[in-house]
Amino acid sequence: MNSYFLEDVINGLRKIPKAIPSKYFYDQRGSDLFEQITKLKEYYLTECEREIIINQLPQALRSLGDNLNIVELGAGDGTKTIDLLRSIESFVPSVDYHAFDISFGALQKLSQRLQELTNKIKRHYSVVDFSKGIELMTGDKTRRNVLLFLGSSIGNMTPEESVHFLRTLSDRLNPGDRWVIGFDLVKERAILENAYNDSQGVTREFNLNLLKRMNAELQTNFDIESFEHVEYFDENLSSMVSYLQSKRDQSVTFPILERSIELKVNEKIHTEYSFKYTDQMIKEIAQGSELKIVWEGQDQKCYYRLVMMEK
Ligand code: SAH
Ligand code: AVI
Repeated sequence: MNSYFLEDVINGLRKIPKAIPSKYFYDQRGSDLFEQITKLKEYYLTECEREIIINQLPQALRSLGDNLNIVELGAGDGTKTIDLLRSIESFVPSVDYHAFDISFGALQKLSQRLQELTNKIKRHYSVVDFSKGIELMTGDKTRRNVLLFLGSSIGNMTPEESVHFLRTLSDRLNPGDRWVIGFDLVKERAILENAYNDSQGVTREFNLNLLKRMNAELQTNFDIESFEHVEYFDENLSSMVSYLQSKRDQSVTFPILERSIELKVNEKIHTEYSFKYTDQMIKEIAQGSELKIVWEGQDQKCYYRLVMMEK
């Protein structure tokens, strides 16, 4: 049993409204479900980002020279990373690539996928929670570090948390090092809401899996059938907000702690933010993090943006 998980769940369920950190979505099943989400037609983010990664990003990276150290945070299963590394290996003599992810299953898939690369790309994998302060392997001042934070994972943090996160990690970078960050842009409500309420119900399953994970790892007795997946765009926040809503009054037991928690009918447990960005929001995050925007790439539909920032 993971004691951080128990502690974070208990603390989250004491909040008003109740909340569970979204990083706990990614057990083996959660990572598999996320991979399925990325293949859904409604979930446009992955293909929009891939388009920029293939058509525009390599050119921008090429201008950084050929002595690169690439660090990817929340790398996932690497379906886009492989496209990027394939093009990088065509113009550098050698490069180190470090992948960090909280999910062992995702990194396992990533490492298998990256086997088809040549030995020019030296691959390193770490199962680690990047919010707990990680050793970034960025000490060598003779190389340019490039930190990749793709998939609009930044959107799972509030803007304040993003600034704190970028500032903390940037402290370990050298002047001239770069961030490459994926931002999903604000767009029509229906497009956003369909992406997170897909017709096949995969996102619903992804959200409910959090309850299954708690039952398996924390020995709780959440009745999965008595919760609904509720997700909508909150315009004031500029974020999709995801909840697990109780269909009835109920009590859930935590045997490890010899206690239970009560949920009222329609009471919601917040499970995730997915912020959607305007130009202004992106500028404010860069400014707050003391990073300079040096390059931006957008897909043809203007749904998504990759932003390169310099320390
Ligand atoms: N970058 C990939 C995957 C995005 S899904 C893409 O663009 O498709 C988010 C990934 O971040 C998951 O693989 C999840 O396991 C990982 N993750 C989420 N929170 C994390 C944390 N606190 N520390 C490390 N990895 C985390
Ligand atoms: C990983 N993260 C950026 C995804 C998102 O869009 O917020 C996770 C996700 N949640 C529901 N669908 C996908």
